[in-house]
Amino acid sequence: MNTSVVILAAGFGTRMKSSIPKVLHKVCGKSMLWHIINESKLISDDISVIVFNQYELIMSEFKDDNINFIIQNHKKYPGTGGALRGVKYKYNEIMVLNGDMPLIKHDDLREFIGKPSDICMGILRLDNPSGYGRVIINDNKVKGIIEDKDADTKTLAIKTVNSGVYLFKKDILDRYILQISNNNKQNEYYLTDIIKLASDDNKNIEPVYVKSSNFLGVNSKLDLSLVEDIMLVDIRKHHMQNGVTMRMPNTIYIEKSVSIKAGTVIENGVTLLGDSKIEDSIIKTNSTVEDSTIISSSIGPMARIRPNSTITNSHIGNFVEVKNSILDGVKSGHLTYLGDINIKKDTNIGAGTIICNYDGKKKYKSTIGERVFVGSNTTLISPVAIEDETMIAAGSVVNQDTNRGELIVCRAKLKVVKDFYYKFFGKKQCQHLLI
Ligand code: UD1
Ligand code: CA
Repeated sequence: MNTSVVILAAGFGTRMKSSIPKVLHKVCGKSMLWHIINESKLISDDISVIVFNQYELIMSEFKDDNINFIIQNHKKYPGTGGALRGVKYKYNEIMVLNGDMPLIKHDDLREFIGKPSDICMGILRLDNPSGYGRVIINDNKVKGIIEDKDADTKTLAIKTVNSGVYLFKKDILDRYILQISNNNKQNEYYLTDIIKLASDDNKNIEPVYVKSSNFLGVNSKLDLSLVEDIMLVDIRKHHMQNGVTMRMPNTIYIEKSVSIKAGTVIENGVTLLGDSKIEDSIIKTNSTVEDSTIISSSIGPMARIRPNSTITNSHIGNFVEVKNSILDGVKSGHLTYLGDINIKKDTNIGAGTIICNYDGKKKYKSTIGERVFVGSNTTLISPVAIEDETMIAAGSVVNQDTNRGELIVCRAKLKVVKDFYYKFFGKKQCQHLLI
């Protein structure tokens, strides 16, 4: 590794119309900057990120990574060229990346490295080049870049555009970065002006034609959704190639950090989030799994598994919500809330069971042992420990620990009032019922 990488992340991203910095917007669960840093780490051990707008927030997100953060003197030198003034690099080759290209891949970036040219720059051919800098190329040499906002009608028609990836030899970058001016419509120092300065001095500027789908820039919420769609196709493809079955894959949302082992089946409408790990299981229609581990289990349809749950050898049915719980060999078929609970094997949880884990001030944990039968519509008031082989009668409210083998019944005694119905409504009004 002997290329330095510098990522531009200091802009205001005004077109996003958002209170969060543009580079922290997420694509498949990770920020745009995370994706770029992640790919950059595969080609370099010297990564700098230029920040300014909300820099503390950005830096705190990456405090555990080995990244040099540099705060741009934005007031004096705004713009992508201003961002690189005074930056020091470890190596003689410097790759500059815009911080709003979350689809870039390290393999594509390698194409730029180790070429003899003074500058290599990534070029896209786009049917709709609007918003991008137009690139002037003669005899396969780049002569200059004209920004969208500064372009005349003829230039606007050019469909070869600047992707926002450049590889500079260090002496070239150091020399020309100080020569660019802010004489343009936005009064900004454009990094792209280096190209004309270097070209006028007969420096060799090589175009590298790149795959447009991997280099799209995100400037708006619409762009954000378009790049996420592209990344999702990639993520799903990766899992299917590894042996995961997907029904109607286009309806399945999977974040980048989810891991799924071969043999798992994911049905339509499923959402898999965060650090979820799924193995040898079926996740049925419209279920959500977030930051949880599912092994040899069937989940859903329409189940919601919230963070920090581990579900093994279990069946979790429709409208069951699980949170921060460990279930091992459990059947919970319908309409249930299991929060902050550890349930052991061969236990059956009846429909409508609710674990009351919160008293308005604090959350409490409960345990249910092996081979327990929890009757329908049981309310378990945490904290309680239900021992192995307890039987809880339907409709019970349980707020104390139980012992092995016990039947727990806690409900009002059934009362029968004969003919009360007719006393209340009168016999006449109920003729139709008596036929
Ligand atoms: C830029 C290029 C354009 C190219 C396009 C590709 C310039 C002048 N234009 O335009 O030729 O086609 O990217 O997507 O470079 N930033 C800073 N400091 C600043 C301003 C911006 O670090 O003062 C960062 C932003 O956070 C962003 C990146 O630079 O990550 C690009 O800035 P942006 O405003 O998105 O540039 P574009 O108008 O897209
Ligand atoms: Ca951009």
